[in-house]
Amino acid sequence: MTQTYNIAVIPGDGTGPEVVREGMKALDAAAERFGFSIEYHTFPYGGKHYKETGETLPDAALDELRKFPAIFLGAIGHPDVAPGILETGILLKLRFGLDQYVNLRPIKLYEGVDTPLKDKGPKDIDFVVIRENTEGLYAGAGGFLKKGTPDEVAIQESINTRKGVERCIRYAFELTRRRNREKKLTLCGKTNVLTYAFDLWLRTFNEVAKEYPDVTTDYAHVDAICMWMVKNPETFDVIVTDNMFGDIITDLGAMIQGGMGIAAGGNINPDGTSMFEPIGGSAPKYAGKDVINPLAAISAAGMMMDFLGEEKAGRAIEEAVQAVIPRLKSLSAGKMGYTTRQVGDMVAETIRDLG
Ligand code: IPM
Ligand code: MN
Repeated sequence: MTQTYNIAVIPGDGTGPEVVREGMKALDAAAERFGFSIEYHTFPYGGKHYKETGETLPDAALDELRKFPAIFLGAIGHPDVAPGILETGILLKLRFGLDQYVNLRPIKLYEGVDTPLKDKGPKDIDFVVIRENTEGLYAGAGGFLKKGTPDEVAIQESINTRKGVERCIRYAFELTRRRNREKKLTLCGKTNVLTYAFDLWLRTFNEVAKEYPDVTTDYAHVDAICMWMVKNPETFDVIVTDNMFGDIITDLGAMIQGGMGIAAGGNINPDGTSMFEPIGGSAPKYAGKDVINPLAAISAAGMMMDFLGEEKAGRAIEEAVQAVIPRLKSLSAGKMGYTTRQVGDMVAETIRDLG
């Protein structure tokens, strides 16, 4: 019997629906080639839905989404919605509600893509960041005191639980072993200043490391990591870090791998529902123009298939993305030399032809 994957799709806002459509094309081509099938279940959540109905992501929807092994997400964001509403109400609610405790962000410079780093190439820029995805400063702990008065106090606390830190670190060790490159895992922290949070991180890291004698470990402060990501990106294999630092260093990572047109990520719950997304936002100024680069979303779709156990399909999608890149004039929206649809078609054809 053919294996069928039920995938929840949240196209979302702006260019989200366009890039998701091209991602689905690639998925269908891979399904055809590798003999499985995919059923898509589309959900309407996003800024547009919020403007129309006043709802972000209802609890019932979260329960519905829990039934799927994976969600394919386009982009969430709307120019007319105040900052914070959609981020906390949809994106973070999904990550937290579905306990997607790992944010997996590969930083890989494809052959033929320009990096702003002088004298660095694809061999030098190929690592993965594992960002803790449910705790830290993102947990929403804190509050105001005497808000709006001259004595106002605002507190935002970083929550780090032994369980949350350990499961993330364990995932990172497992991935480092599985990647089988340099087998080197670097903890990114700030032990010299954040003496409670990163004390817990470093102790946990060193304890778990004992179970992985084949993995070389290293530690660096987040500011030094930023420096080395620019100066010596080749020294990294896998980096593990907390939510806030991970957010920041993966934007830096996206830039050295060629920009938001190519950066993809996965929000992983190994025992539940995971979610895959292009890292770039909703790019409202390009929406509906058929000019946005769909490769990040297509790569996210590839990561999703890899995660679901269709490693060959995942690899074929990644290879097709690599094969199409040299044919594009640029990775930037409107400058590719092709439309969004054409790039998606080229990838889908390549997936079929590679077979
Ligand atoms: C990301 C984004 C989100 C984050 C925002 C939109 C809440 O920047 O996925 O990195 O900070 O995690
Ligand atoms: Mn971010």
